[in-house]
Amino acid sequence: MTAPPDPDQALRTLDAELARGLSLFAEARTIEELELAEIGVLGRKAPFSGVQRSLGELSQEDRRPVGQRTNEVREALQSALGERRAALEVQRERSLLEADRIDVTLPGRRLRPGSLHPLTIVQYEICDIFTRMGYRVVEGPEVEDEWHNFDALNIPPDHPARTMMDTIYLDVPARPDLLLRTHTSPMQIRTMEAQPPPVFVVVPGRVYRNEEITAKNMPVFHQVEGLAVDEGITFADLKGTLQTFMRALLGPDREVRLTPSFFPFVEPGAQTEVSCFVCGGKGCRTCAGTGWLETGGSGMVHPHVLEAVGYDPERYSGFAFGLGYDRLAMIRFGIPDIRLLWESDARFLQQFQGLGASA
Ligand code: FA5
Repeated sequence: MTAPPDPDQALRTLDAELARGLSLFAEARTIEELELAEIGVLGRKAPFSGVQRSLGELSQEDRRPVGQRTNEVREALQSALGERRAALEVQRERSLLEADRIDVTLPGRRLRPGSLHPLTIVQYEICDIFTRMGYRVVEGPEVEDEWHNFDALNIPPDHPARTMMDTIYLDVPARPDLLLRTHTSPMQIRTMEAQPPPVFVVVPGRVYRNEEITAKNMPVFHQVEGLAVDEGITFADLKGTLQTFMRALLGPDREVRLTPSFFPFVEPGAQTEVSCFVCGGKGCRTCAGTGWLETGGSGMVHPHVLEAVGYDPERYSGFAFGLGYDRLAMIRFGIPDIRLLWESDARFLQQFQGLGASA
C-alpha cells in the first residue's frame, strides 16, 4: 500500500503548476511552442494531471478543497492557453499575409512579343517584291535527284559540282542519285516540266553544300531562284528585273552589276553584284575595296535546258537567277557575320522586333 497523498503538497503543486503554466504559455512564440507547453503543463505525465489522478485517494474532507483548487487551476490554465492560442493564430495569419503580400501597384511582368527571324523577314520581302512584279512563289523539295539538280541543268556527270566534295548524298538503298539540293535551280526544271510557258516564278528555300563554316559561308544556306520564260525575253529584262528588285529590297540608290561568269545552265551567264551598302561603291573593307558585293548567279536559260523540259528554244527564251539571301539579309541589315543568323542569340534577334510584321 502506498501512503495517501498529502493535501498540502497537492495544493502547493497546483499553485506552482499554475504559475509555471501561465509563464510557459505567455512565453510561447508560436503555436507549435504553445502545443509543447500545453503537453508539459496539462498533459498526462504533467504534475497537474498527477494531482488530478490522486484526488480519489484523498479523504472526503481533503478532497473538496484540493478538488476545487484543481478545477480553478485547470480553468485558469485552459483559459490562458486559449487566449494565447488565439493571439498566436492572429499573429500567424498576419505574418502569412505579410509574406504573401502582393503590391498591386507594381508594374506587371511584360510578355515580350517574339519577332520574325531576319532571314524570314528578308524572305517575305523578296516574295512580296516579286509578287508585285507578277511572279508566282513556289517551293520545291530539299531532297533532289541528280537529274533535276545536275543533268537537266546541263551539268554533265564529270562536272566538279557533282563530286562528293561539296555535295551531300543520301544513303538510300537503290537510290544512289538522291542528294540534298545544292542550289534552288532544280526548281527551274520542275516548274517547266509542270507547265507550258509563259513562266514567272520565284523559289525561296534551303540548300546544302559540304562547305566549311566561315563569316560568309554556311553548309546550309538560302537561295531564291527566279525564272522567267516567254517569247522575246532578253538580257535587258534580266538586268532590269534584278535592278528593280535590288532597289526595292536594299534601297533606291543600289546599282546592279552583271559580270561574265559560267553556269552550265545559262548562256550567257553572269555574276550578280550589288553596289556596297557601306561605301556606296567607292570601295571599303566590307566590299574588299571593290565597291561591289556578290549576291548570286544569273543568265539567259540555256537552250539545252529548254529542250530538256520540252520547250522550243527557237520560240521561247528566258532568264534565271539564283541569289543567296543569307547574304542579302546581311546586306539589308548590315550583319557582319553569317553565323549570327544561325546562333539564335536573343540579344541579336530581338533587334528585329517589329520588323516584317506586315508580311
Ligand atoms: C548557284 O548556286 C546557281 N544555281 C545560281 C544561278 C541560278 C546561276 C540561275 C544562274 C542562273 P552559286 O554557287 O554561285 O550559284 O551560289 C549563288 C549564291 O548563293 C552565291 O552568290 C552566294 O550569295 C550564295 N552562296 C553560295 N554558297 C554559299 C554558302 N556556303 N553560304 C552562304 N551563301 C552561299
